[in-house]
Amino acid sequence: MTSSNHHHVSHIAIIMDGNGRWAKERGLPRAEGHRAGAESIREVTEACIELGVKYLTLYAFSSENWNRPKAEVDALMKLLDRFLDDKAAELDKQKIRLQAIGDLDRLPAATRKRLDRIQERTKNHQTMTLVLALSYGAREEITAAVRAIAKAAVAGEISPDQIDGELIAQHLYTKDIPDPDLLIRTSGEMRVSNFLLWQISYSEIVIVKKMWPDFRQADLFAAVEEYNKRHRRFGAL
Ligand code: IPE
Ligand code: IPE
Ligand code: MG
Repeated sequence: MTSSNHHHVSHIAIIMDGNGRWAKERGLPRAEGHRAGAESIREVTEACIELGVKYLTLYAFSSENWNRPKAEVDALMKLLDRFLDDKAAELDKQKIRLQAIGDLDRLPAATRKRLDRIQERTKNHQTMTLVLALSYGAREEITAAVRAIAKAAVAGEISPDQIDGELIAQHLYTKDIPDPDLLIRTSGEMRVSNFLLWQISYSEIVIVKKMWPDFRQADLFAAVEEYNKRHRRFGAL
């Protein structure tokens, strides 16, 4: 690991927050905020391609979001279906690989099917990987990893002494994805909300006041500029 300045950003993770408040400020139903947020996703994806970013991870739906009223959960799933239907051809054309992380079995079967199809269709694309965190919770992810490792130990496949950070990372949904360099959260909230707890250990965090539906390319570029000013030391001198 190096401590050089202007470390290239290869992975940006975003907690897309503030859709509901954006809608409320305009006297609109919350679902309108979620709908408007889709345009921000398009903008950010374009900006990342321009910057040569290799991974863009978007927190779209958390494990805890299942606890929202059923009408909102249904609206979000419907928007997700529409997003996947609208995006499939575009992602394919832009050579973007789509990957979903999270407890995907909890998603409606039709949504799951769409995800499977689009992941299969784009699996060899190299421009960038767009990672959608859906039904995702970091504690659930780590818990599942611990369970799998314990089973392997009990089965005699590994010895407890072999358990190290690398082995744990290999049991996470993100096993083939490098850790985020930069974590952005919109709407001004200063918390992580169960997102990528293991993976963001050394990520630079940038909090943006704007609500997610107002987030544009210029905001992404500004966040990357802020990242470039930081001096990542990874605990060393
Ligand atoms: C983020 O916006 C989108 C999801 C969590 C699905 P919110 O829905 O959390 O909007 P606020 O934070 O209530 O404004
Ligand atoms: C985090 O936002 C989850 C997503 C952006 C998908 P929330 O709005 O759900 O989180 P809290 O309630 O502010 O912690
Ligand atoms: Mg929120």
